[in-house]
Amino acid sequence: MAGDSSAFLCGNPNLGVTVTYPPRCLWYNSGWIGCLARVFHVKQQPTGPQPRILAIANQKGGVGKTTTAVNLAGELARRGRRVLLVDIDPQGNATTSLGIAKASLTVTTYDLLLGGAPPETIPMASGRDRLELIPADQELAGAAIELVDLNRREWRLSDGLVPLLPRYDWIVIDCPPSLGLLTLNALCAANAVLIPLQCEYLALEGLAQLKATLERVRESLNPTLRILGVVMTMYDGRTNLAQQVVDEVQRYFPRLICRTLIPRSVRLSEAPSHGRIAYEYDPHGRGAQAYALLTEELVGREERLV
Ligand SMILES: Nc1ncnc2c1ncn2[C@@H]1O[C@H](COP(=O)(O)OP(=O)(O)O)[C@@H](O)[C@H]1O
Ligand SMILES: [Mg+2]
Repeated sequence: MAGDSSAFLCGNPNLGVTVTYPPRCLWYNSGWIGCLARVFHVKQQPTGPQPRILAIANQKGGVGKTTTAVNLAGELARRGRRVLLVDIDPQGNATTSLGIAKASLTVTTYDLLLGGAPPETIPMASGRDRLELIPADQELAGAAIELVDLNRREWRLSDGLVPLLPRYDWIVIDCPPSLGLLTLNALCAANAVLIPLQCEYLALEGLAQLKATLERVRESLNPTLRILGVVMTMYDGRTNLAQQVVDEVQRYFPRLICRTLIPRSVRLSEAPSHGRIAYEYDPHGRGAQAYALLTEELVGREERLV
């Protein structure tokens, strides 16, 4: 699973083919248009209102991707949006964070990527109104290898989600800590990326590689992919370092950095072990409040664009 995306991108014989036609309004799945889409490796687009599809990505582990994905998905659902959380990390942390036992899973993201079950049957209830989940477990690690030889290997998630799109207003994808084929699938399926950065020394290390990958994905695979924002996580206002890191990121990404800083909070780190979202576990805590504000901010950025 791990590995540099460039291996996949450079090995793709269709790189450099920028396909901007047929127009987005056509249903690429059907007939000769579907064939063209498959040959040219373009995104298959359904008609009608589309959900926002947001990948939470950073190839570093432990920066707050899963915490952000779960809390954002929960807050969006609380605000009345129909939300699908897709766990595409074989560690399945988003799945357990929602209180779902991996031993109980019958279908997972693995089946969505490998066609093991009809996509319509894969999302499961999370036990919260308007929030559904496509869960993941260790089996997904095998998918990263099995996908390599498959047709449309970067597009399996995007294609699998097509029949599910009318059901949701937002789809949030929790990426694994690598820039391998699983993350590439998330970036091809998404229309926007949110990058969590930990407020620590070397936070920006690896960001150049991530940005280069996003640029290559945009050029070769998914031209509509945008960076929605960079969110600073585990901010500890008592240290100078945290503020220095925020200032530095502010200089690099003046328009992308989110106003909302996610504080370092013990309650945020405890909530997943109880299978609870922060607002369920400690609704008045600083962590839950920060994710509520972040959600407002991102909804303002994203839904304003339509
Ligand atoms: N704001 C925070 N304050 C304190 N702990 C946090 C915070 N965000 C995440 N954590 C904890 O840090 C660890 C890594 O976070 P996680 O969201 O799993 O990162 P990633 O998905 O990027 O690997 C987890 O144990 C999580 O509970
Ligand atoms: Mg994670």
